[in-house]
Amino acid sequence: MTIAELGGQPDAVREQAAALLVDGFDQHPRGWRDLEAATGEVSHVLGRGFAFAAIEDARLLGWIGGLPEYEGRVWELHPLVVRREHRLRGVGRALVAAFEDEARRRGALTFTLGTDDDGGQTSLAGVDLYVDIPRHIAALRDLGSRHPFLFYRRLGYVVTGCMPDANGPGRPDIYMSKSAGREDRRRQPAE
Ligand SMILES: CC(C)(COP(=O)(O)OP(=O)(O)OC[C@H]1O[C@@H](n2cnc3c(N)ncnc32)[C@H](O)[C@@H]1OP(=O)(O)O)[C@@H](O)C(=O)NCCC(=O)NCCS
Repeated sequence: MTIAELGGQPDAVREQAAALLVDGFDQHPRGWRDLEAATGEVSHVLGRGFAFAAIEDARLLGWIGGLPEYEGRVWELHPLVVRREHRLRGVGRALVAAFEDEARRRGALTFTLGTDDDGGQTSLAGVDLYVDIPRHIAALRDLGSRHPFLFYRRLGYVVTGCMPDANGPGRPDIYMSKSAGREDRRRQPAE
């Protein structure tokens, strides 16, 4: 498997990128319903930020995008998808590493993302988050179907907030972030 810039790939690979979005997010209300919408998303990400592809024998195994926020001090990881039959083999981890390296190179202080709970997969679903948002976030747990927040947590991302009802009543978006330079900051001597 090689990780390469999606923008430099032949049209056939970019078409696979769009198809993967449709397939990978088919259960999500905020997913891409058809190839046309997904092709627009690929172009949008390539136009505003950057994207990397995981490729094996001209087949796209997965891809990741990065979009600037806060004048480039923050980079959003969006989207990320790995072909179903290639999951749990380190493809997602390799793509996130490529995203982080490139975002850091472009000046990121923070990597960020939103991971929807639109299927009652976590303890943040179906409850009144407004009552005590910090407590709900501190007590966040997966309800058994391995929501992707577990994947991101494994890669060092922490929950920094949530958007109640982002996907309908009781279906929040979970915000996670990671410092791009934490180790460097720790190495700096105290003033
Ligand atoms: C989430 C996704 C990108 C993970 O990709 P992947 O290639 O399967 O992940 P990796 O194999 O690199 O996993 C890295 C680590 O995370 C763990 N992991 C991966 N998915 C996990 C999940 N859903 N729950 C818990 N742990 C998970 C792996 O076991 C591995 O652990 P390790 O540290 O012991 O090696 C993939 O499942 C996917 O494309 N899902 C559909 C689209 C999606 O949900 N995208 C994210 C939306 S925000």
